[in-house]
Amino acid sequence: MEMARIGATPAGGCNRQALTDEDRQGRKLFESWCAAQNCTIEHDQMGNIFARREGAEPGLPPVLVGSHLDTQPTGGKFDGVYGVLAGLEVIESLNEHRIRTDHPIEVVVWTNEEGARFSPAMIGSGVFAGTFELEYGLSRVSRNGATLGSELERIGYAGSRPCHHYPIKAAFEAHIEQGPILEDQGIQIGIVTGVQGMRWYDLELIGEAVHAGPTPMTSRRDPVRAMHTIMAQVYKWADDFSPWARVTFGDARFEPGSRNTVPERVIVTLDIRHPDETTLAAMEDRLQEIVSTAATESNITGIVHREWQSAAIQFDDRCIRMIAESATDLGFSTMHLVSGAGHDSVYVSKIAPTAMIFVPCKGGVSHNESESAERNDLAAGCDVLLNAVLRMAGCAAQDQTTSN
Ligand code: GLV
Ligand code: MN
Ligand code: MN
Repeated sequence: MEMARIGATPAGGCNRQALTDEDRQGRKLFESWCAAQNCTIEHDQMGNIFARREGAEPGLPPVLVGSHLDTQPTGGKFDGVYGVLAGLEVIESLNEHRIRTDHPIEVVVWTNEEGARFSPAMIGSGVFAGTFELEYGLSRVSRNGATLGSELERIGYAGSRPCHHYPIKAAFEAHIEQGPILEDQGIQIGIVTGVQGMRWYDLELIGEAVHAGPTPMTSRRDPVRAMHTIMAQVYKWADDFSPWARVTFGDARFEPGSRNTVPERVIVTLDIRHPDETTLAAMEDRLQEIVSTAATESNITGIVHREWQSAAIQFDDRCIRMIAESATDLGFSTMHLVSGAGHDSVYVSKIAPTAMIFVPCKGGVSHNESESAERNDLAAGCDVLLNAVLRMAGCAAQDQTTSN
């Protein structure tokens, strides 16, 4: 709740978008909590934060826990933040109980998970995992024209540590489910087996700017007419791929953007998702057809720019088993499920054994200021995280001499 005061919105949510002044404040607050737990803190070139609790054998690869602190423009208090603070809670508990793990533990805050301010999503973890080049990450541009690299410098988070992966024993990310399944089924812990595939597009429709009054409807080259046909067909096609297909038109820009001029250009964003990669590819083929037919009919140019894609992934069997065993030992009800949302664990899973823990959220609602979760469920997720980390990190001894 203290973190949620930074960037708090009137409707009870958070607007703490990546690399804004609010993000900086949130990062500083997190780091003050980590320093109080005697963690060493480092920033890499993408501004990812690593707070490390040393293990009994420092040469061993760390167990990574964490998520993100950035939010959507009208985001909630829990998306991402929960996973970061659950990681910190693990460290606090180990310190309180004077438990020294064999492997070090690192709590990580990934930069720009949301992709709301800088597209694409999960860029900090993506560069870390080697999916994207550092230059690509730093050159992402926000709506107001600032680059990710310049904003990192501005808020003082352009770190010196190379943004590159190193040996990691395992990675765990706790997160609210952001969907309704756990709540509907009355289950406390979701054992996440993977993440569905997602693709982001900019649909660019180019016609001709003409006067809204004198120009007959029949002689216009109106990109909005094409847009409306495309949208109707895409929604229909989502029904054809139901129940798992997801399509979202999240943003649109009209140029020149004047109420009495037919726009010359429309750019609409489209997010499509499906757990099966082959189906997702078929959806993309169909999208190309829909756009090209609608463009021809309206005598305009239609271009499908694929902005980003993240293939459906499977998490690591052993990590999944450790989460399942921890939850069962603690007496929580569990089910296995595939994540509908993207997470930094997608990229981390490419370079380290990884899995995720979900807890229910109220009404399954997320990316909304009303996002909420029950204290007991959040605590259960932390317990499972702690136990999974202990299994992975090994715990030779309770340290009688130091609290760290
Ligand atoms: C991340 O929030 C996503 O788009 O799934
Ligand atoms: Mn998230
Ligand atoms: Mn999110």
